[in-house]
Amino acid sequence: MATVTIDKARKAYGALEVLHGVSAEIADGEFVVLVGPSGCGKSTLLRMIAGLEDITGGTISIGGRVVNNLPPKERDISMVFQNYALYPHMTVAENMAFSLTLAGAAKEEKQKRVAHAAQILGLTELLGRYPRQLSGGQRQRVAMGRSIVRDPQVFLFDEPLSNLDAKLRVAMRAEIKSLHRRLATTTIYVTHDQVEAMTMADRIVVMNSAHIEQIGKPLELYDNPQSTFVAAFIGSPAMNLLNGRFDTDGGKPVFKTNEGILLPLPDNAPRVSGVEGVYGIRPEYFTLSPANTGIPARVVVVEPLGSETHITATVGGQTIVTVFHDRLNIEPEETIWLQPRTERICLFDAGGRRLTEKAVERNLQHS
Ligand SMILES: Nc1ncnc2c1ncn2[C@@H]1O[C@H](COP(=O)(O)OP(=O)(O)OP(=O)(O)O)[C@@H](O)[C@H]1O
Ligand SMILES: [Mg+2]
Repeated sequence: MATVTIDKARKAYGALEVLHGVSAEIADGEFVVLVGPSGCGKSTLLRMIAGLEDITGGTISIGGRVVNNLPPKERDISMVFQNYALYPHMTVAENMAFSLTLAGAAKEEKQKRVAHAAQILGLTELLGRYPRQLSGGQRQRVAMGRSIVRDPQVFLFDEPLSNLDAKLRVAMRAEIKSLHRRLATTTIYVTHDQVEAMTMADRIVVMNSAHIEQIGKPLELYDNPQSTFVAAFIGSPAMNLLNGRFDTDGGKPVFKTNEGILLPLPDNAPRVSGVEGVYGIRPEYFTLSPANTGIPARVVVVEPLGSETHITATVGGQTIVTVFHDRLNIEPEETIWLQPRTERICLFDAGGRRLTEKAVERNLQHS
């Protein structure tokens, strides 16, 4: 087991800069998920840690040792890829032992390690089978078994579940987590699926076009996104983000949408006028209020999911989604009235950065 320290790591392909100096400190035994949209640089960063890509600038250290110039096999890491091709002509046991065979391990040692990994992964009964005789989930476990037998300091996973169907993905997610609980090996896991990130990670690193937006525990990111990007990326349905400006109404702070609809702010919000910004509120933080009180919203779609009802509506011209844990008798075209839980509101500046109350005041002084 080991810490992984990424210090201002840069990657460029010629003139194309695909990582602009990213830094993150991953603790010994931690399960960290790198998440972000396609092309933001997740695989590139993982491959730099693995030693499969040169590091253009900065340093990467594993267990306190800078590995920039070490070949992959000397880094004591093990990587599981999205396309984890198993050798079709080898049994499960042979597939799992393959890296040990290459390393010239003794037969007894190989058997011992394969038996141990097979037991952890529930593959003991399947050791004599060939890959074509396995289900997708079993094959995925064999691919992980190949990593476990090497007992590395760090596991690296690049979207290992994306080839599986939805149900199997959920099951494998739980298996990888429980595997991590037993082995406690430092793990860096790449996905573009925010649900996978939320459910698996000790901490999440949210990436966006070549840089890190925010690092934090899943619920820290959910409750306190530092940018509209993180606010919209983490959580489903996404946080509602309404554009407008800060204002006051009868001495009370309010937010006025671009269409002139007044949205309440907490009483302790700064009393400023004219500063542009973004009003963020998650779908579950609304309650229905009596007609002509609160925010008027015109219903577009009602989705009864059984345990929840999702309502898509427009406030002024801007679309919002609300989630209620009741079955509601609401129809499209109706106007409903909403009360946001003001203590849950997240405010951002016009550039999408999270605003503290102080920052709103500072902004006003400058304008
Ligand atoms: N060998 C290469 N030469 C030039 N550009 C590359 C090369 N490899 C990757 N890139 C570019 O680097 C950027 C980051 O790619 P990367 O594979 O790290 O993205 P990703 O976040 O893993 O995306 P995805 O979720 O689609 O797998 C992309 O814009 C990609 O086109
Ligand atoms: Mg990738």
